[in-house]
Amino acid sequence: MLERPRPSLGVCYYPEQWPEEQWEGDFGDMHDAGIRFVRIGEFAWSRLEPDPGAYQFDWMKRVLDLANAKGLSIVLGTPSATPPKWLVEQMPDMLAVDAQGRQRKSGSRRHYCFSHSGYRNECARIIQKLAEEFGAHPAVAAWQTDNEYGCHDTVLSYSNAALIAFRTWLRLKYKTIAALNKRWGNAFWSLEYREFDEVDLPNLTVTEPNPSHQLDFRRFSSDQVMAFNRVQTDIIRRWSPGRPILHNFMGSSLDFDHFSLARDLDIAGWDSYPLGFLSRLPVSAQHKTRYLRAGDPDFCAFHHDLYRGCCRGRWWIMEQQPGPVNWAQYNPAPHAGMVRLWSLEAFAHGAEVVSYFRWRQALFAQEQMHAGLNRPDGTPDMGLSEVRQVATELEQLSSIKLEQAPAALIFDYEAAWTLEIQPHTEEYVYLGVALSFYRALRRIGLNVDVIPQESSLDGYKLIVIPSLPILDPDLVKRLKDFGGEILIAPRTCSKTEDFQIPSNLPPGPLQQLIPIKVQRVESLPSFAPERLTWKSSGYEVGLWFEHVETEIEPFIALPSGEGVAFRKGTYTYLAALPSQELLDAIVAELADEAQLETVQLPKGVRTRRCRDVQFFFNYNPEPATLHLPARTEFLLGSREMPVAGVTVVRTTGANR
Ligand code: GAL
Repeated sequence: MLERPRPSLGVCYYPEQWPEEQWEGDFGDMHDAGIRFVRIGEFAWSRLEPDPGAYQFDWMKRVLDLANAKGLSIVLGTPSATPPKWLVEQMPDMLAVDAQGRQRKSGSRRHYCFSHSGYRNECARIIQKLAEEFGAHPAVAAWQTDNEYGCHDTVLSYSNAALIAFRTWLRLKYKTIAALNKRWGNAFWSLEYREFDEVDLPNLTVTEPNPSHQLDFRRFSSDQVMAFNRVQTDIIRRWSPGRPILHNFMGSSLDFDHFSLARDLDIAGWDSYPLGFLSRLPVSAQHKTRYLRAGDPDFCAFHHDLYRGCCRGRWWIMEQQPGPVNWAQYNPAPHAGMVRLWSLEAFAHGAEVVSYFRWRQALFAQEQMHAGLNRPDGTPDMGLSEVRQVATELEQLSSIKLEQAPAALIFDYEAAWTLEIQPHTEEYVYLGVALSFYRALRRIGLNVDVIPQESSLDGYKLIVIPSLPILDPDLVKRLKDFGGEILIAPRTCSKTEDFQIPSNLPPGPLQQLIPIKVQRVESLPSFAPERLTWKSSGYEVGLWFEHVETEIEPFIALPSGEGVAFRKGTYTYLAALPSQELLDAIVAELADEAQLETVQLPKGVRTRRCRDVQFFFNYNPEPATLHLPARTEFLLGSREMPVAGVTVVRTTGANR
């Protein structure tokens, strides 16, 4: 069991955007509202160094001293997401280049290429100065590297710096060009190279570039983000020892391997904007309407569980949506109470800190239409009273205890790249598939851990694998030894590490566990699903079909007899992508097999168990009623949940 530090609240603040006379009052008001952590500095380079080498750190020192005097702890951001104009003028080739070959300009943010060594050195220089100056300041409690790596599509860059670095990366990986040619299958379309310097970046080709080439470019680009981050963490650890380092990851962000990058961090942060994310999810308009002011009931929880798995259980919300945002297709206001619900749910998933974006709505520039906890004139906006309420409730709830979930979902960034490179149907979206498996677990009230391929499976009773084309050979061994139930989605083990079809056909080495051979695959449009009946209920499957050869009788089949789901011992293999309802039914059946205790929840209500307490969250646009035993002890709320209601009850047993 993991003991958590006492949960705290935080906020993002931009002193450089407000008159100095306001700082002290702002810090006092933050403290009054129950806030203890303040993130600053991540976009302040032009104020910290207005001219090359002319550092102006006095104002930052005054900010830190004031924060300290008010009992606030600072998370100091490194300013590398916003290189100042003079730096871009000095080295214009530091700008990233998009897939169309166009250089991305300065004038907003994140205008740099991860592979540009000159820019990395400039970041190292300013970060070292900051860490030398402030690394031991009593207010500095933690550091944030950069800001949202990958935001605004910035991981993949097709610059000259990237090209040179990619060739070096390939040389290290393949040693000889003959090996590269073989493993990429360059006999196809006369793509054989004579030397590494002939290899280009995979953009602007007439039709699609070789998928092995693309996958290596994705792996390389992910490694570049890691290397860029490591320059920063090395410096901070040296000059500011003992202060945890975090980064603020995003939702739906798959362009680099977050599990790998997080190995260099102490805490995984993520920025949670439930309403903005919902507008971008590939779900029906009906679903978007129902949850317009609440957000998808599973999307944020999925990310909480994902990022909890990144840094040995330590994670924060670095930016929590406080009201309407400005950047989505449309930007509704949350239901009253929703900011509180989102915050309490994050704590129930183990967040150490929930920090809101931002203290006060900006008067000027790009984000003036983005709510803050306060309006631009300083009067409290809708979120602030909810933050105060959360601060009080945290006192009541005392420590929130976590333990290993009974179910795990294996998540993999390379799977996302592989399926994106060769989707077969554009509707087969990895995150969507993973989310549907997660939903099915959560709808029956299970706690879930989202884990990488290399994680131990010990202690779990049910593992779900939502499409994992390239499986680590060691995972095959661990799956073999695993005693619980395993649900395997189609396309698992459908590629080798080099992006080739396994020579014994998919699911490659998984055939050792369940004797099935995929003979042919097909994808279908979502408007033409196949219908079937299972246990007297009608369901649909669609998008993806595998026609398999096997001796095993399917336990779910199309009316034609063609198998959709196969089971041998504890292994269940899906040869088609089920609708959510069918997936829910299959997962419920496996949870029963695994003897997991499930909960019947009203639609749109979710739960999370934390050892001796259990949380319930109402995402519905109408009230909901919980069916709980007569003698339930309520810590917060009651059986009758209003819109955005949170109920917390004391449980006796451990988390089953
Ligand atoms: C985040 C970003 C913040 C701010 C915020 C607005 O993506 O880290 O700096 O732009 O979005 O919602």
